[in-house]
Amino acid sequence: MKKVLIISGHTDLRTSVANKAILEVLANKLPDAEIAELDSLYPDFNIDVKAEQRRLISADIIVLQFPIFWYSAPSLLERWMEATFLFGFSHGDNGDKLKGKKLILSFTSGAPEDMYTHDGWIGYTPDEFMSCFKATCKLCGIEYAGHVYTGGVSYAARTSPELAESQKEKSVKHAERLLELLRTL
Ligand SMILES: Cc1cc2nc3c(=O)[nH]c(=O)nc-3n(C[C@H](O)[C@H](O)[C@H](O)COP(=O)(O)O)c2cc1C
Repeated sequence: MKKVLIISGHTDLRTSVANKAILEVLANKLPDAEIAELDSLYPDFNIDVKAEQRRLISADIIVLQFPIFWYSAPSLLERWMEATFLFGFSHGDNGDKLKGKKLILSFTSGAPEDMYTHDGWIGYTPDEFMSCFKATCKLCGIEYAGHVYTGGVSYAARTSPELAESQKEKSVKHAERLLELLRTL
């Protein structure tokens, strides 16, 4: 059985609807997976590098779970990566500890999906925004295994319990798509 590591990069899951719902489904359906919620572990951004490197070494499949913030990953997830993916560990001389592992990006956005197209208001696709992760995979010998994306889950559109509930339902479907992708790996 492949070991799945899920890194939650949300900066405050207490305020989350989408990422929280996705993580709840994953915890339920993948009891053997390890879930690291960076906001609880590192509210001060002071990453325990050795602990995080151990987590990575023990995983076969790494899932980065996060909301899009400013067309990128949240600062906490970026910080985690900057601190953990070190020369000699993930890349560079003898830096082969992540080689052969697989990585999935699982992310949500406030803007609806049809804005994330070349003809849409944003003008770029989610895949284009995430190319930095693909380049990182290439550098580290990680196999990029694709992304699962859900748009239209903004804070601004949660103005009633019904709207929040429909975002939650969308997020549960997202988690099911992610589980399907994991089953293929
Ligand atoms: C600081 C910040 C920046 C954001 N930047 C973007 C953005 O660039 N594009 C976008 O579509 N949504 C953006 N959003 C909306 C979030 O992606 C959205 O609220 C999140 O995916 C919902 O997930 P959650 O319920 O787990 O928090 C931003 C939200 C915050 C708080």
